[in-house]
Amino acid sequence: MSSDLVIHDLQARIGEKEILKGVNLTVRAGTIHAIMGPNGSGKSTLAHVIAGHPGYEVTGGEIWYKEHNVLELEPDERSKLGLFLAFQYPVAVPGVTVANFLRAAINAHRAQEGQDPKATAIPVAEFRKQLREGMKQLEMDESFARRYLNEGFSGGEKKRLEILQMTLLKPSMAVMDETDSGLDIDALRIVAEGVNRLAGPSMGALVITHYQRLLNYIKPQFVSVMMDGRIVRDGGPELALELEEKGYDWLREELAGAA
Ligand SMILES: Nc1ncnc2c1ncn2[C@@H]1O[C@H](COP(=O)(O)OP(=O)(O)OP(=O)(O)O)[C@@H](O)[C@H]1O
Ligand SMILES: [Mg+2]
Repeated sequence: MSSDLVIHDLQARIGEKEILKGVNLTVRAGTIHAIMGPNGSGKSTLAHVIAGHPGYEVTGGEIWYKEHNVLELEPDERSKLGLFLAFQYPVAVPGVTVANFLRAAINAHRAQEGQDPKATAIPVAEFRKQLREGMKQLEMDESFARRYLNEGFSGGEKKRLEILQMTLLKPSMAVMDETDSGLDIDALRIVAEGVNRLAGPSMGALVITHYQRLLNYIKPQFVSVMMDGRIVRDGGPELALELEEKGYDWLREELAGAA
């Protein structure tokens, strides 16, 4: 069974606006793959479409993961398959504590059709232990567990919470949209260490970022560039360095020259 995430000729729009114009991308199982690209090129849209966000209309193409046509699955089924999405702007859920949210998410994953959810639920003591360990690794204060999800969280706190979710849910493929944005230097290191602990043979990651800086901490094997709704260049880590140094214009010019 292939655990590569394979995106083929993906097209998507919002209302009348065509945003993804035929994205081709394979994220190999157990590898870190970075996507870079100018503002507005469609990176977050791609992440949202992979997650099954209802605001986007997929007008063509396919996404395959573990022999499933992902576009035919509901968002919770995608999550059960091992796909995890960390958003650029996580939503706040007042009234739901961090601990309750995480426990519900874990139990949703453990639930089996036709079985009493109580029988498959994580034992409370086991959950508390995992939560405590995860929060300790991410240097989060224990009081966070009792706060409402993302409500009043600072930018950096939201990002840590996303990594905490990943730590507890153990996805096999994580899509991270600008996980580095708004992080101070210590938080960047903590978040990157969290990702590095998880990434490896059992978890691949698609990491969307603007800055080489993050890639100093989270080392990608592959780098792709998105422009105007398409992947226009694939390479290795050296591509990120080249973009950092030279910006995007040279690539635009090369592409215009080739057209
Ligand atoms: N809800 C929406 N309504 C209208 N246009 C939208 C909507 N969401 C996204 N777009 C447009 O789609 C295009 C791609 O946006 P997207 O957020 O995917 O870009 P991005 O590559 O993630 O950019 P950034 O680097 O700034 O995060 C932009 O022109 C944006 O304005
Ligand atoms: Mg974005």
